Amino acid sequence: MSESVREIVARPAAGGTARVRGWVKTARHSKGVSFLEVSDGSSFDGLQVVVPPELENYESELRHAGTGWAIEADGELVDSPGKGQRYELQATRVQVVGAVDEDYPLQKKRHSFEFLRTIAHLRPRTNTIGAVLRVRNAAARAIHAFFQERGFVWLHTPIITALDAEGAGEMFRVSTLGAGESDFTGDFFGRETFLTVSGQLEAEIGALALGNVYSFGPTFRAENSNTSRHLAEFWMVEPEMAFCDLRGNAELAEAFLKHVIRAVLEACPDDMAFFEKRIAPGILENLQHVVDSPFECLTYTEAVEILDASGRKFEFPVKWGVDLQSEHERFLAEEHVKRPLVVTDYPKGIKAFYMYRNDDDRTVRAMDVLVPGVGEIVGGSQREHRRDVLERCMGEAGLSAADYGWYLDLRRHGSVPHAGFGLGFERFVQFVTGMANIRDVIPFPRTPGSAEF
Ligand code: 4AD
Ligand code: MG
Repeated sequence: MSESVREIVARPAAGGTARVRGWVKTARHSKGVSFLEVSDGSSFDGLQVVVPPELENYESELRHAGTGWAIEADGELVDSPGKGQRYELQATRVQVVGAVDEDYPLQKKRHSFEFLRTIAHLRPRTNTIGAVLRVRNAAARAIHAFFQERGFVWLHTPIITALDAEGAGEMFRVSTLGAGESDFTGDFFGRETFLTVSGQLEAEIGALALGNVYSFGPTFRAENSNTSRHLAEFWMVEPEMAFCDLRGNAELAEAFLKHVIRAVLEACPDDMAFFEKRIAPGILENLQHVVDSPFECLTYTEAVEILDASGRKFEFPVKWGVDLQSEHERFLAEEHVKRPLVVTDYPKGIKAFYMYRNDDDRTVRAMDVLVPGVGEIVGGSQREHRRDVLERCMGEAGLSAADYGWYLDLRRHGSVPHAGFGLGFERFVQFVTGMANIRDVIPFPRTPGSAEF
C-alpha cells in the first residue's frame, strides 16, 4: 500500500518521492503544464499533481485528463507555490488507470443533493458526501471508544426479532412464506418475525448480567414518514446500565454526546471547516458551545408550560398529554434554551410500556434529548423493574404476558433499577454536520418508495 494523501500532506517537510493513487477532482490544463488535483478519499483536500509535458503519455493521454479519471502518479514532493496547499507532487510518471466516459455525471461543479441521491453509486466522490462519510466514520469510532474506555460491553443484539420493542407496530416482516400464505407456524422461524426497531429489550438482558452494555447497529422502522429526519433503516446506539436511574442515564447521555462531538472536531478539522463554510455557517461555534456548557433539563410539564406561555402559533397546538412535535422540540432547543436540553417525565400515554412509572401514576421516567436544528436525537428512560407494576403497564398496553414472559422473568430473578437510551446515529451526524436532510448523511438511504442497490 502506498501512502495516503492524508499521510503525505502530514509529512514534516517537502523532499523525497511520493506516490499518489486516486481520482482527479479538478484538472487544469495550461500551456506546457497540467495540474491535477487528486483525491484518494483519505482527506478533504486532494494533492495537486503537476504534470509536465515531457512525460511520454502527456500528449496522448494526460493532456485530456479530467474529473473522475483514476490515476497513479509518482514524483517528487515539493513545497507548493500555490495558495491553500502546502505541498504538490512534481510528477515524473503518471499512469492512467481508468478514464471516464463522456457522460460522467459529476463533471459540473455544483449539483443538488436531490440529484446526487439519484447517483448514489457516485455521490461519495463529491466533497460533501465524502466529508459526511468521514465524519460518520469518526463518530462511530468515538462512540465505541467512549463506551470501551468506560468498560461497557458491546452486545450484538439481533436484527431479526419477534419483538416490537416500542409497541408502535412499525415493523418490517421477515418471512419466506409465499404470496397468500399467512400461517406463520409454517414460516422459516415457525413464528412471525420482524426486523428490529430497537435492541433495547435484548440490551436489558445484557445489562442484567454484565452491568453496562451497549448495542450499535442498524434498526428498521416501517413508518411512512417522508421527512428530513426519518429513515426506514437507520443506525442506533443503545447503552443500557444496571443499577442506574434516570439521572445517571441523563448524565451518561450528556457526557457521551460531548465526547463524540469533541472527537469529530478533532479527527475531521478539514471536513468540519467545509461544513462551516458551505453547509452551515456558525456550526463550529455552536458545537463548541454545546461541548462547553451544561445541558438544560426540563420536565415535560415545564416544557408544555413554556410552549404555552411562548405566544407562538404552532401548527400542532400543545396541551398536556400530547406528544411534542418537531416544531415544539426545535422551539425549545433553538429559541428557548439555545442549546441541547433533556426533557424528562413524559405522560405515560405517549411513551412505551417499559418505562418506570412515577408515583403520580400519570408520568413515566422518560427522557428525550433535543438539540437545535434537529429536535429529538436521543430517546431513553429508566426501565420499570418492579414486576407487579410492569405487569399492570403491559396489561394497559394490551401486551400479552405470554409473549413477554422472559421480560417479566427478569423482574422476578435479581431485578434491579436500570436505564438506557437510544441515539439516532444519522440524526447525530446531521447535528454535527448541519446537513438538512437525513438522506444525505447515510451512504444508502432507505425511505418510503426508495431502496437503491
Ligand atoms: O426514541 P426511540 O424510538 O427510542 C427507542 O427506540 C428506545 N428503545 C431506545 C432505548 O431506550 N434504548 O428512538 C431512539 C432514537 C430517536 O431519538 C431518534 O434519534 C432515532 O432513534 N430515530 C430515528 N432516526 C431516523 N429515522 C427514524 N425513523 C427514527 N426513529 C427514531
Ligand atoms: Mg423517541
